[in-house]
Amino acid sequence: MKFDTPAGQNPIDQLKVVGKPTDRIDGKYKTTGMAPYAYERHDVATNQAYGYVLGAGIAKGRVRRIDMTAAKRAPGVLGIVTTLDHPRMERGMMNAAFLFGGDEVQHYHQAIAVVVAETFEQARAAAFLVKVDYDSKPGKFDLAAEAKGAKPVPGDSGEGSGGNGEERVGDFEGAFAQAPVQFDETYSTADESHAMMEPHATIAAWDGDKVTLWTSNQMIAWGHGSLAKILGVPKENVRLDSPYVGGGFGGKLFVRADAVLAALAAKAVRRPVKVALTRPLVMNNTTHRPATIQRVRIGATKDGIITAIAHESTSGNLPDGDPETAVSQTKLLYAGANRLTAMKLAHLDLPEGNAMRAPGEAPGLMVLEVAMDEMAEKLGMDPVEFRIRNDTQVDPQDPKRPFSHRDLVGCLRLGAEKFGWSKRNAKPGQVRDGQWLVGIGMAAAFRNNMVMKSGARVRLAADGTVTVETDMTDIGTGSYTIIAQTAAEMMGVSLDKVAVRLGDSSFPVSSGSGGQFGGNSSTAGVYAACVKLREAVAQRLGINSADAVFADGQVRAGNRAAPLGEAARQGEVTAEDTIEFGDISKKQQQSTFGAHFVEVGVDAYTGETRVRRMLAVCAAGRILNPKSARSQVIGGMVMGTGAALMEELAVDTKRGFFANHDLAGYEVPVHADIPHQEVVFLDEVDPMSSPMKAKGVGELGICGVGAAVANAVYNATGIRVRDYPITLDKLLDRMPDAA
Ligand code: MOS
Repeated sequence: MKFDTPAGQNPIDQLKVVGKPTDRIDGKYKTTGMAPYAYERHDVATNQAYGYVLGAGIAKGRVRRIDMTAAKRAPGVLGIVTTLDHPRMERGMMNAAFLFGGDEVQHYHQAIAVVVAETFEQARAAAFLVKVDYDSKPGKFDLAAEAKGAKPVPGDSGEGSGGNGEERVGDFEGAFAQAPVQFDETYSTADESHAMMEPHATIAAWDGDKVTLWTSNQMIAWGHGSLAKILGVPKENVRLDSPYVGGGFGGKLFVRADAVLAALAAKAVRRPVKVALTRPLVMNNTTHRPATIQRVRIGATKDGIITAIAHESTSGNLPDGDPETAVSQTKLLYAGANRLTAMKLAHLDLPEGNAMRAPGEAPGLMVLEVAMDEMAEKLGMDPVEFRIRNDTQVDPQDPKRPFSHRDLVGCLRLGAEKFGWSKRNAKPGQVRDGQWLVGIGMAAAFRNNMVMKSGARVRLAADGTVTVETDMTDIGTGSYTIIAQTAAEMMGVSLDKVAVRLGDSSFPVSSGSGGQFGGNSSTAGVYAACVKLREAVAQRLGINSADAVFADGQVRAGNRAAPLGEAARQGEVTAEDTIEFGDISKKQQQSTFGAHFVEVGVDAYTGETRVRRMLAVCAAGRILNPKSARSQVIGGMVMGTGAALMEELAVDTKRGFFANHDLAGYEVPVHADIPHQEVVFLDEVDPMSSPMKAKGVGELGICGVGAAVANAVYNATGIRVRDYPITLDKLLDRMPDAA
């Protein structure tokens, strides 16, 4: 199905199943431990051996020699595959660093060997007996030191943000110089780890020249193609299966060393091999959200009309890596005739920087929305009003392009009302609750909406059950459920009559999960397949498909009615289709909007910040399942709170690695850090996005929330921290007198 004109009325609009808050159908399996993750697929292959991955102990240089004498003699060892056994292997999609092969070390903990043994403990013990000699070279590890030499480069997050190295509209410098009110500050954000619960893990088994990988991956088709390329095996001989994924956040968009090494090791020892990355390897072997240094300049009239806005970001990466696209949202969020955005990239020899939940917008809004708060204060304006005054209904860089639907103002106004914004004391440091300095802050949320080609197959059985098959993944987001809701709505059956099978590369290629494109795109693909199935059903029943009504498990046309399953009496009815998006998504700007409001308490004695209340109001098209959408948004709000207050990979700038490479040192928010969260969705549809009229919501929740936290900390204390996260050491020496 080609989607190139706005969606008209269609069966989804009935909203009998779609749009209802629905429990996740995989929820009971996940909460009872019945959903097997990749490492736990004990039943898929017999005689599984364990692989333990060894990462390089230097950040840059060469592996000169690997001595395996002692390791090979250790109990239970079945084999060792080292990077010196293979020429450098191809890279997967979107990746800068090589995963394995050859003697070059590009970053710390790059995989250099996998030790295979009968048990995990034996493999780990033997791995520590492997002796490696390196030729170490000096590397560049300090973003602040390298930032001066950074060059403007184009970049694309692959998730809907990006652009040219420098983009200009009008005359920024001239307009800024003449602006009656000027603001110019520089900020920094930290390297962050996805820190998903389930580490990267794979079981690989060969059958002749065919290999199957039970793995944990967001994008099955990408992984499928990449593994075929990396292993040098035809695509039809590779199968990936990833039905449950314990979080990804962008860290599992692409194939990682666990998959490659499981496949190589299984071949070498002629047995199925399972490999999971240890937590330190998740942090240093895989990818992370790169740190940024960002400068924002805003020029405005005295009554708060922005006349000039500039946002420049510098980040670092390996030589073939991309910049963090942190300035993207600034092209679209606020009006202003004179504009400048720039992305600069410095060469660093740290592990690879790449996509992490809302790549670009998450660190970009962390800064832009604090700058907007600072500018509002400079103007003596309310921060909500300042944003409303500078709203735009068209792309500010190309005013002929409208937004398909934009209700940022609605989010801001409703959020302000619900949160009690009018009671805020605009003067910081004034509100006390016992030992706590209390403040509230807000920020706008913005995230582009991407649409991706997506396919599905639907099968109708004689008992009236409908089975959906697509290589779409459920990374904890609720894909199983919204796909089942879509098929149930389209075929006129209840949810319990629908089975959904995901994550298998033998199924039709879907959008996959990333960039908050998965929910809308994958259900649109299921919609397309169901349109075809409805036609096939009507044909089998000998009725005109235009007259057929699918409801209550029946197909009706005129005064005829038949149970849906009757169409499959002579055999299953199958239909397959792929939704493809024409240039409809380019003619108009599709984005999602929101407003975050946060109340914090900062301990007057210790500088410790506790979040007390959070509210998000989101405008993201039709909400397919308000329950799972809310879970996505509150998850994003938790992650954004982490970025604001605690998440930071600490760079060892001498040896070139992230020192706090576990969940003891890399702090993420836990339940005790997060208060009750409220999420409100505006009731809207966007017919430009797909037949589902939905948009992405899984990343909107993280966008801007960190800035709302930071603005609340300022309102509480009067201390403006511009280097994130706001750990208490950055507040302590500037705290107001506690006594
Ligand atoms: Mo992307 S960072 O996998 O949503």
